[in-house]
Amino acid sequence: MASLRSVAKRLEGKVALITGGASGIGESTTRVFVEHGAKVLVADIQDELGQSLCKQLGSPESVSYTHCDVTSESYIQNAVDTAVSRYGKLDIMFNKAGIAGEAEPMLIASSLHDFKRVFDVNVLGGFLGAKHAARVMIPAKKGCILFTASIVSKISMGLSHAYTTSKHAVVGLTENLAVELGEYGIRVNCISPYAIVTPLFQKTSGVSKKEKVEEILSAAGVLEGAILEPSDIAQAALFLASDDAKYISKWRQLTCGWRL
Ligand SMILES: NC(=O)c1ccc[n+]([C@@H]2O[C@H](COP(=O)([O-])OP(=O)(O)OC[C@H]3O[C@@H](n4cnc5c(N)ncnc54)[C@H](O)[C@@H]3O)[C@@H](O)[C@H]2O)c1
Repeated sequence: MASLRSVAKRLEGKVALITGGASGIGESTTRVFVEHGAKVLVADIQDELGQSLCKQLGSPESVSYTHCDVTSESYIQNAVDTAVSRYGKLDIMFNKAGIAGEAEPMLIASSLHDFKRVFDVNVLGGFLGAKHAARVMIPAKKGCILFTASIVSKISMGLSHAYTTSKHAVVGLTENLAVELGEYGIRVNCISPYAIVTPLFQKTSGVSKKEKVEEILSAAGVLEGAILEPSDIAQAALFLASDDAKYISKWRQLTCGWRL
């Protein structure tokens, strides 16, 4: 029984920090990581949501929340230090926080403010997350850093230039860091999800009927009849964060996309 349990819990003994862990894909990943035995620190700006999720999932000894705006280095530094002081170390840094920005696909109508804001959260946020995670992972000579890009880093889907280019930048950052940090045994990978109906997606698309959108996305997807859900991305993150992926780095995993 004991050995069956340890096979089932794939993150036993590991400590994870998940930015954007209060909602959508991040929330689902928090649930899966806790289920698999990791101690998790959720870092987000939605305090009520983050705190109630953690309360629901367990005691502060295993899962807790910290307010963290990923665009601010001092918040990120504090989140990493909190993970280490609360749980003893940091094994997994999942840079999940992201925004879609304005749903404006036309270049001339795009705003400079929006472009900068999207880059601040999606690119600078990930850069700072990786920087401070590396600060504690390098001396430990191990660790796993995960980023979140998107299918738009591979094909054009008519989303805003800010969002699309920010996700291309995340892939570049993943590849560069994987080379640098590989020297210290730190694996760096990136998950590039196809579309999932989360609060971010609903805000961008302006669509409220979840089932209808899922039907359209599913019909456009490669896998007949399958609907991509946050838990599917959480499972990909679980694999990449676990020791099962010990020789996987510099990988930008694309979840099954649409037929084009
Ligand atoms: N939903 C999709 O279709 C889809 C597809 C591809 C990639 N993604 C990416 O997945 C990630 C998560 O998206 P989601 O769909 O789960 O959306 P979501 O809006 O449900 O979750 C994003 C989380 O990030 C947090 N966040 C936003 N700005 C922040 C900041 N400055 N500091 C800290 N936290 C911040 C939000 O509070 C929220 O909890 C994003 O990077 C997104 O670009 C989503």
